[in-house]
Amino acid sequence: MTNNVTISDFLGNDLIGFVLSDASVTAIPISIFAGQPATSIRTETLALVHDEEHPGTPIILGVVRWIRRLEPYLRPRVKVGVEEYPDAIDRIEKLTYTNVYVIPIAEIATQDNRIAGISWNVTYVPFPGSKVYRVRRGDLLTSLIASSLTGMQSPLVVGTHKYSGDVEVPLDSRYIQYHIGIFGATGMGKSRLAKVLIDEIVQKTEFSVIIFDHTGMDYTVFYPDTTITSLEVDLGPSGIADFFMETLRLSDYYSTYLECFSIELKKCMEGQEEKPEPVNIESYRKGLSQVHRDAHIGQSATKLREFIQKYKKELKSTVDTEGRSKLLNDIHANMTELLKRVASKLGARPETVENLAWRMSYFIKPEDLEIMLLRRERPIGALFDLARDAKRQGKPLVIDLSFEYTLEMKKAIVGDIIDYGWKWIYRENFLSGKHRYVPINTVIVIDEAQNYAWGGDYCEGQVEKIAREGRKWGYGLIVLSQRLAGSVDPDIRANLNTVFFSRLSQTTDLKEIREFADIAGIDESDLAQLMPREFYVAGLMSPLRKPIAIRVREVK
Ligand SMILES: Nc1ncnc2c1ncn2[C@@H]1O[C@H](COP(=O)(O)OP(=O)(O)OP(=O)(O)O)[C@@H](O)[C@H]1O
Ligand SMILES: [Mg+2]
Repeated sequence: MTNNVTISDFLGNDLIGFVLSDASVTAIPISIFAGQPATSIRTETLALVHDEEHPGTPIILGVVRWIRRLEPYLRPRVKVGVEEYPDAIDRIEKLTYTNVYVIPIAEIATQDNRIAGISWNVTYVPFPGSKVYRVRRGDLLTSLIASSLTGMQSPLVVGTHKYSGDVEVPLDSRYIQYHIGIFGATGMGKSRLAKVLIDEIVQKTEFSVIIFDHTGMDYTVFYPDTTITSLEVDLGPSGIADFFMETLRLSDYYSTYLECFSIELKKCMEGQEEKPEPVNIESYRKGLSQVHRDAHIGQSATKLREFIQKYKKELKSTVDTEGRSKLLNDIHANMTELLKRVASKLGARPETVENLAWRMSYFIKPEDLEIMLLRRERPIGALFDLARDAKRQGKPLVIDLSFEYTLEMKKAIVGDIIDYGWKWIYRENFLSGKHRYVPINTVIVIDEAQNYAWGGDYCEGQVEKIAREGRKWGYGLIVLSQRLAGSVDPDIRANLNTVFFSRLSQTTDLKEIREFADIAGIDESDLAQLMPREFYVAGLMSPLRKPIAIRVREVK
């Protein structure tokens, strides 16, 4: 289409000013015409600079920043002479004028009076006197930008330019697996932006999406058909171990005991007598043969298994709360016994064993176990298939975490599911013997990331692994948070190659963003002007090399 557009159609007729001396590739000083152009100009307005007197030179596309109102005599820090005569201010003649800077973001090539293409590398500096137009034909600019994203499937569009509602800012989907961060104070519309972005991803790319809905209020409402509760998800031994580690507030010193205990417990919950499949925990492998030969542990496990099975049966047939709570007490006691036996078998000192038992009674009440025992046993692997099914309907898979009793359990689930993705990649690529590259093409969305992406624990480690190594396997990450410091681990941040950011709750957070993303020229005052739904976008997915303000499409 671009070949057929003439320069004058493209520029339109909204002439607002002209270029002053001292332009450079990074900033072009502009004087704005008095009247309507001067009063209507706003920071972030999109402008086109046309050097009419030098035919064949490119048109510069830029954004207006640093608007200044000036007057030759009413200078700051100089006595003007009307200070003592308030009435005089109305009578003196004012020679006001407005200067702004246009920050170039792209160069639009012209040929024979027509538009010939767009480049994000600005090298041409327009001469003083060149004309400046406000963008009026946003549709033409939108298709010009889209046409520049060669090699890309359909671009993702989450909104339009903040002041030019008809200029869509297309995002390059090739960089989804280079990870995305969305930051902003509460209520700025992060979760809604994520929703719009996710819809674009599942509808326009080959990626499926798994969303963890921390509160169960942000995403489940939009996708009731493709939401499952996390209670349906079968926890693996590492997830169970992590739940106990966190709930019992244990240090890493105890991890071997807890991991081995969790493997035994898992078998009891499944009603298994013997261990059929190898489990991938190094520490357990060492203790495996010993633990298994040990009749002492065997007895305890058998007893626990019987109680658990009885409990599950009981639950189907009766609602006798007294009986249930007695059974839960028995399960709690037997679980504690199993933990003690596993720990002593692995060489724990008697004091350590007692300490574990004490923590079980102090930190975990019998009722707390219910949520673990009642879990349905949908294998984690099935979730990735469900996400692919949902994708075929143009939707993401939402995992509603709101029914979980503890944050530890939520974290264990998130960690386990991400970990399964890695096992899948490993199996398909290395164990299958097919010697071909099979990406997983899945994006994991972590809202309220302060709970999952910080703290150096199992869950944070899993999130970080995607951030560091996911791109190669099409394993992408979208993290959302109100804050950066103390909320998203620096190693995760450093790997977010596209960032959306809005008004931030802490001014120091802008500095944090600056450390890993090129957001040249944006400062706190720019952010202060953003309203809910408005974000700057910067990084690999944005074709514009500089951050640009967008207004997110409305989510009803
Ligand atoms: N794109 C949008 N379309 C329609 N309404 C929106 C949009 N973005 C934000 N809103 C409005 O703003 C409210 C807050 O948005 P959202 O829940 O996405 O904020 P948030 O940044 O995720 O906040 P929190 O940090 O508290 O989770 C929404 O309930 C909605 O009313
Ligand atoms: Mg939110």
